[in-house]
Amino acid sequence: MGSGGPVLFFDSGLGGLTVLREARYLLPYEPLLYVADDAAFPIGRWPEADLKARLLTLFDKLIATHEPKAVVIACNTAFTLAGDALRRAHPQVPFVGTVPAIKPAAERTASGLISVLATPGTVRRAYTRSLIESFASQCHVRLVGSDLLAEMAEYHLRGDPVADEALLAEISDCFLESEGRRTDIVVLACTHYPFLTNRFRKIAPWPVDWLDPAEAIARQLVRVLGADAASAPADTPDRAIFTSNPKDPALVRLLAGFGLVLERD
Ligand code: DGL
Repeated sequence: MGSGGPVLFFDSGLGGLTVLREARYLLPYEPLLYVADDAAFPIGRWPEADLKARLLTLFDKLIATHEPKAVVIACNTAFTLAGDALRRAHPQVPFVGTVPAIKPAAERTASGLISVLATPGTVRRAYTRSLIESFASQCHVRLVGSDLLAEMAEYHLRGDPVADEALLAEISDCFLESEGRRTDIVVLACTHYPFLTNRFRKIAPWPVDWLDPAEAIARQLVRVLGADAASAPADTPDRAIFTSNPKDPALVRLLAGFGLVLERD
């Protein structure tokens, strides 16, 4: 187990909050720290070597400063690239990762047609290819990389308008029909996307199962913490750190809805 600090959740922006809210439900007393590297957002388009170096440097600092009990990388783009390297660099800290939910999708699909909706980075990763080879070789898996959806999810969450047509343009490649069979599962392989699920349901050409791994990740965190999970309320509030150091009151309110106090420099 790591040191006695909070459980640190990491994402490039607001997407990791889809995982944090599930963890909060299962671990009501656990002190949580949410860290968003929003200065780098969106990271889905970053070259792999630059992003990996940035993540390793950032985590050296975060772990030294906050001494987390455990870290949840609530971001497919970051974890599929740097998860192994982060674990090697910080062997004393348990890391819980986020990877495209290809295995559960392959177990559940009836039609055998699955789509994985993710950032361009996650779609390109060797990690994603190896998940398909290991767990879904009997399925037809379509990888759909979206340049814009993570930003659209942030606009939506902040209350800015996002048009149905714009969303449909990003998801329409997920819907495949072949020999009388249709895609029946779309894996939400970016933690931002579950904020848009209700919109997706409304505009989808036919109903599918939109697979969100947040609850499974939160359950994994519960297993990792084991008897070390906090059993009494903390006396300090849960905090959020955003690397761009934003002062936006709308963000402060939004984070308050997740029980987080935005920390300022
Ligand atoms: N939320 C992140 C993920 O799960 C990526 C968003 C971004 O492109 O920065 O992949």
